[in-house]
Amino acid sequence: MFRKEVKHTTRFIFRLVFSASAWQQAAKNPPYFFCFIQGIVRHPLLFSKTRKIDGLISPYIGAKLYDAVIKSKHPSKNVIEVGAYKGLSTIHLATACRKVNKRVKSFEIFSGLPEIDSILDKGFNKGDFSSDVNTYENNLKSCGVRDLVDLTIGDARQTMPAVLNNDGFAVAFLDVDLYEIMKDLMLQLIPICRGGEVLIIHDTDHDGVRKAVNEIHALTGHTIKEKRLEGGASVKLEIPQNYFNHNAHE
Ligand SMILES: C[S@@+](CC[C@H](N)C(=O)[O-])C[C@H]1O[C@@H](n2cnc3c(N)ncnc32)[C@H](O)[C@@H]1O
Repeated sequence: MFRKEVKHTTRFIFRLVFSASAWQQAAKNPPYFFCFIQGIVRHPLLFSKTRKIDGLISPYIGAKLYDAVIKSKHPSKNVIEVGAYKGLSTIHLATACRKVNKRVKSFEIFSGLPEIDSILDKGFNKGDFSSDVNTYENNLKSCGVRDLVDLTIGDARQTMPAVLNNDGFAVAFLDVDLYEIMKDLMLQLIPICRGGEVLIIHDTDHDGVRKAVNEIHALTGHTIKEKRLEGGASVKLEIPQNYFNHNAHE
């Protein structure tokens, strides 16, 4: 009787650990620690270059930013970043830009988070993540990427159109934490997409950011493919190649 119990329990544990569906589940939604290690292992030199820079993205997201730029086949030279803080994400994007002849258009307000919706942006406070331009500049210089970045200081919602100057973008990283700003930025960027662009949105585990992304999916008829990163804490939005034609017919 006891032997039968042991046999059943062992088989159950074996199935749980080794069954295809368990692995599929883990691949779709990997635990945060696994992602962290994966980020370091994927690009160890990038990790060692950036590990002393103070910042708010993980090595995993850093690796995903780098890969998105390297893999992009989009003709635009622009890689957008909104929310640079002290430059950690900028350095990851710029390191990739060096290899594929693109430039980072970095937007930062430096006074920290501006307006907060007390319900949707719960957990954040006005002025959170304030930084300064000198720290940003020094960090970029210490990593040897200052020549690849055009920084625009101010609210990106106002400054972005003139900087992009109808040249579109290949990759955009939006890391602004808040509903209203995230939605405004996506409402500016999605209509200029022509197909093949990638947007990486940080902090989709926060209600406000998630709501902004959901509203964009609804507005675009759920035509944009979404991939979860870090178990959904961030997402990668892939604009389909035929996006322009598809929208021109509507
Ligand atoms: C979470 S931090 C960015 C972290 C950064 N990506 C990193 O790698 O460490 C969010 C940043 O967004 C900036 N920000 C928020 N709203 C902005 C806006 N409308 N325009 C430009 N920057 C903004 C804030 O000043 C803050 O530095």
